[in-house]
Order: sequence, then structure tokens, then C-alpha cells
Amino acid sequence: MTALLILHGPNLNLLGTREPDVYGRLTLDEINARCIALGREFGVEVRCFQSNHEGALIDALHEARQWADGVVFNPGGYTHTSVALRDAITAIGLPVVEVHLSNVYAREDFRHHSLLSAVCRGKISGLGWRSYTMALRFLVELLTENQQ
Ligand code: DQA
Repeated sequence: MTALLILHGPNLNLLGTREPDVYGRLTLDEINARCIALGREFGVEVRCFQSNHEGALIDALHEARQWADGVVFNPGGYTHTSVALRDAITAIGLPVVEVHLSNVYAREDFRHHSLLSAVCRGKISGLGWRSYTMALRFLVELLTENQQ
């Protein structure tokens, strides 16, 4: 069975109450539930994990090698700073889609640059919670094609 990791970085545990005009009103649990339900429609296992700690996110990426076929990753603020997460994405060799709820290009200049995009399979930014489900749909299609 195809399996996907939905990985959320720092401060995303506060979704629902954190700047709702920027990030929307859904909680993290609600976004996860939508991803799991969509996965079920496709017959894909979806596991979700959030951490505020860079090392725990790196560990989750390493562990994903053992069970996942792809990763949907919202690295939060680490997007703009983390060489270590970039190296982890490269190291695991799984297709990773970088996602952002907000349109990072419509925001402060420091959000325009991602250290991770170049080593990700692709990037979706600005579609709210649908950034996650769009990335999930893409990975399911990609992995299905690769199996054929
Ligand atoms: C974010 C965008 C980042 O710039 C920010 O630091 C976040 C959330 C997003 O989902 O829009 O924490 O990744």
C-alpha cells in the first residue's frame, strides 16, 4: 500500500487561532483529517506529524525512509533558514513536496527565499489547506505512474 507522510513544522500546531487571516481557520487536526480522508479515497495510508523542533523534523524524515513513499512538508519558518532540513530531504531520496498555506511571495521579502525548494520535487504556496491536498493528489499520481 502506498504511504505518505504529512509533515508540519514549527508553529503550525497553533493553526486555527494563529493569524487566521493569513493561515485560515482550520486547525491542524482538521487539515490532517482532510488529508487522511483523501488518502482513504485513493487507498493510500496517510500519517501526520508536527514538531516545533528542527531535529524532530529531521528524525521524522529519516524514519519516513522505512515506511513512506513520499512526503508533503510544510517546514514553516525553517523553510527560510534550515540547511539541515535541506540535507535531510536530499539524504532520504523520497519525493518531497514543499507546501505553504500562505502565498509566501505576497509576503515579506525573507519569505521569498526557500533553502528547501531546490531539493524538493515541487512546491505549492498560497492555496490555504488545499496546498496540502493538492500536494497529496500530485504524489498519488506520481507514485501510481511510477508503479506502471
Ligand atoms: C508557512 C510560511 C512560512 O513563511 C511561515 O514561517 C510559516 C507558515 C505557510 O504555511 O504559509 O510558519 O510555511
